[in-house]
Amino acid sequence: MATIKAAILGFGTVGQGIYHILNEKREELRDRLGVELEVAKILVTDASRERVPGTAHLMTESIDDVFAGSGMQVVFEAIVNEEPAFSYLKRAIENKCHVITANKVMFAKRGMELQQLAKDNGVFVGYEATVAGGVPVIKTLKNILLVNDVSRIQGILNGTTNYIFTKMRAEGWSFEEALSEAQRLGYAEANPFNDVSGQDAFKKLMVLSSLTFGEQPNWSEVEVVGIDTISASDVAEASDKGLRYRHVAELEKCADGKIIGKVAPLLVDNEHPLYPVDDVFNAVTLETNYIGTLTLIGPGAGMYPTASVMVEDYAEIIGKRTGNVVTVL
Ligand code: NAP
Ligand code: HSE
Repeated sequence: MATIKAAILGFGTVGQGIYHILNEKREELRDRLGVELEVAKILVTDASRERVPGTAHLMTESIDDVFAGSGMQVVFEAIVNEEPAFSYLKRAIENKCHVITANKVMFAKRGMELQQLAKDNGVFVGYEATVAGGVPVIKTLKNILLVNDVSRIQGILNGTTNYIFTKMRAEGWSFEEALSEAQRLGYAEANPFNDVSGQDAFKKLMVLSSLTFGEQPNWSEVEVVGIDTISASDVAEASDKGLRYRHVAELEKCADGKIIGKVAPLLVDNEHPLYPVDDVFNAVTLETNYIGTLTLIGPGAGMYPTASVMVEDYAEIIGKRTGNVVTVL
């Protein structure tokens, strides 16, 4: 049986989740796809620290080491920031590797370029994990767009901020307590300012815009308001009135073709579809011409939900290659 060699770039919350799932599901994936998968390299900034027992021999701090020799075929990317992530994935694609990324900061800006490069090189880019964690919004959108036009998207695209609002309201926690717990649970970004300021939700919205409309609005014209504008007393006062704060991202294509985007806190009552979406959950509502309105809800961050969709991307890509799985890519 053929063996596929894979590298994991980044071995924090998401990278370790990928490693665990690949190990736990190794036999099922092999039987289903007809190929064995071997994690051959793990890239980190500090290889002296063994995060998972038994992985010390796989760790490296050098991207050259990842691509040394031949045979790397799949690269899972779970590091942070646009660079060096983009350059690493560009190099992977030029080496004919399929790439699977969770990095929305990089993908919002360079995703279309990366996908064109992948097309030119006959490989695939999986990016389900860049938006809404474990919620399969990318593959659902790809399917829907085969037949429908999507005119509007509205949702909660950041798990950390929804978790913070929920804990402040339901448990009476302070903002700092809730953020600290979100960090401990692996929900928050390495720099949590990205979550709190709305920048993380904004990047996810831009990924959705590229997929849905084939273009993005001018970034400087998208209003982005963080949750730091809402105090604990605002949350308590709203709760007393039966209202809840949600950090809502919206995207709409107007009749004149202009795309309008916005990320901001919103007060919702118990008739609003986002009212019951608590904790780390995300929700994405898609307005379409044939299906009507469709809402997906699920865990928006965390080790296993995020890693799961990346391994699903792997299975789709390899299945498409071997003919063992029917997929949309
Ligand atoms: P994390 O826990 O902070 O882990 C980041 C990992 O990347 C660390 O192992 C770090 O190495 C490594 N790294 C960072 N910069 C590097 C570089 N220049 N070269 C090599 N390795 C580098 O972050 P995470 O939560 O796993 O998130 C990873 C990516 O997934 C981010 O882009 C994030 O936005 C995205 N994401 C996260 C979630 C989530 O729920 N956490 C969900 C969806 C998407 P060291 O260990 O040596 O520091
Ligand atoms: N920090 C992000 C969030 C991770 O809380 O939604 C998932 O993209």
